[in-house]
Amino acid sequence: MIAAQSLSVKTASSATTYSTKAEQLKTRFEAAGQGHVFTYFDSLSATEQEAFLEQLETLNVERVNRICTKATTCPSPMLNNQAAILDPLPEECFDSTLDASPEKIEEWRSVGLDEIARNKVGVILLAGGQGTRLGSSAPKGCYNIELPSRKTLFQIQAERIRKLQSLAQQRPGAVDKVIIPWYVMTSGPTRTATISYFQGNNFFGLESENVIFFEQGTLPCLTFDGKIMLESKGKVAVAPDGNGGVYAALRGSGVLADMAERKVEFLHAYCVDNCLVRVADPVFIGYCVSKNADCGAKVARKVSHDEPVGVICLRNSAFNVVEYSEITPEVAMAINPKNGQLAFGAGNIANHFYTLEFLNRAEAFEHELEYHIARKKIKTLDLQTGEIVTPKQVNGMKLEAFVFDVFPFTQRMAVFEIDRRDEFSPLKNAPGTRVDDPETSRRDILLQHVRFIQAAGGNIIVGKDDEQLGGAPTLELSPMVTYYGEGLEEIVRGKSIQTPVSIASLEALKKAVF
Ligand code: UTP
Repeated sequence: MIAAQSLSVKTASSATTYSTKAEQLKTRFEAAGQGHVFTYFDSLSATEQEAFLEQLETLNVERVNRICTKATTCPSPMLNNQAAILDPLPEECFDSTLDASPEKIEEWRSVGLDEIARNKVGVILLAGGQGTRLGSSAPKGCYNIELPSRKTLFQIQAERIRKLQSLAQQRPGAVDKVIIPWYVMTSGPTRTATISYFQGNNFFGLESENVIFFEQGTLPCLTFDGKIMLESKGKVAVAPDGNGGVYAALRGSGVLADMAERKVEFLHAYCVDNCLVRVADPVFIGYCVSKNADCGAKVARKVSHDEPVGVICLRNSAFNVVEYSEITPEVAMAINPKNGQLAFGAGNIANHFYTLEFLNRAEAFEHELEYHIARKKIKTLDLQTGEIVTPKQVNGMKLEAFVFDVFPFTQRMAVFEIDRRDEFSPLKNAPGTRVDDPETSRRDILLQHVRFIQAAGGNIIVGKDDEQLGGAPTLELSPMVTYYGEGLEEIVRGKSIQTPVSIASLEALKKAVF
């Protein structure tokens, strides 16, 4: 009885607070020109109203308007700023694995492995994207690219970390237990599925306490005239705020503090969809550490001047990524007389190095980061009819920050050119599209493994029953066998291996060669 009384008192007082909250929010959204979000408010049940108000409270509507105005009035800083001067990368900030001697590469690898062996290296995975082009409802990392082992991108990456931990463990002076913590950024649409996928697969042999999930922020989807879109009568349509949301998310979720506690100093960040990614690549880490860089970026040499990729260069003396749409054909075609390569040929692949100190510093300049507009088909509520519409045409905008937008704020940038065949093959498009699709991912992994065996002196015999899908012999080596082709020579030199074959361990490789 007493409990019931106090309950009713509580209900009455919270109803008052709640209607005040509704009025305050209504006034605030109307003042910001976004009052239409309340169009169907009165038709919602009390629970729905409460949930809606909670969501609106978390939206900083004035900030949303500011971001939108900035993004829509200045879509291309270069085209809008005639004074923008582009310069090629300064020589002292750039090195290439394509030109470096094997000794130099070994030297960088050794520096990187030693840092890993001292537990100074962590990994940040950007896995908050919705993968709309790929068209799978599951997070991209759960995608099975039809390797013989049927491993998904998450599993391949987890096993590369495991292998690297064991390689570093063998270094003289290694700590008792080498750990490369893996910080996995998810978003509203990918979080639950990602976490349960890892849990359901026992973290692919990693220790669960060393796989840390954190969530990026979201922003409302907007119509082309900047109005907040509704997903339903009582819910704003939101989307992840772009992979550049990682900087705020790292701080807000306590990840930076976790890194500090673990005494991690260097981070490797990469996109989930690159099936060839060398996770925590010791060569890259060693290169950036040797350069005393605070931020580093891997780049892939552009294959032609008109390849549609952004390039890293200097814009008004600051490091920047310039999109292919922002660059004139003359600039795109300019040649560096010293090496005969494209002067603006450092194709950006969103594969970065940071010091923890730089990530901490990001807070100071985060508010200056630009947001970009992604025009998308967004399922939305028609305010006139109250019906939910699935559009056939692009009908709205998502606002996204890009992970490379911090480059202008670096103090010591290092740019590292890699061999695309060995390190970059992104999964972007649906099966059958022939460009950056599951078939090209599978092909590029298998072709790399063929090269690994050949470089180690092995001979490959293509079996009659090998379908060689996509032109690649079916030869798969688990990351637990080799990370970058190391450790194969003593097993395969002068020997043959017949395809199709999928090798899970060094023992299995020994048995497979003849
Ligand atoms: P993309 O820009 O290719 O986007 O992401 P996407 O979501 O994978 O694919 P589409 O454009 O919807 O087809 C490049 C990388 O950035 C991550 C992605 O998970 C991928 O690793 N990303 C993207 C985020 O982490 N958060 C985002 O908000 C957007």
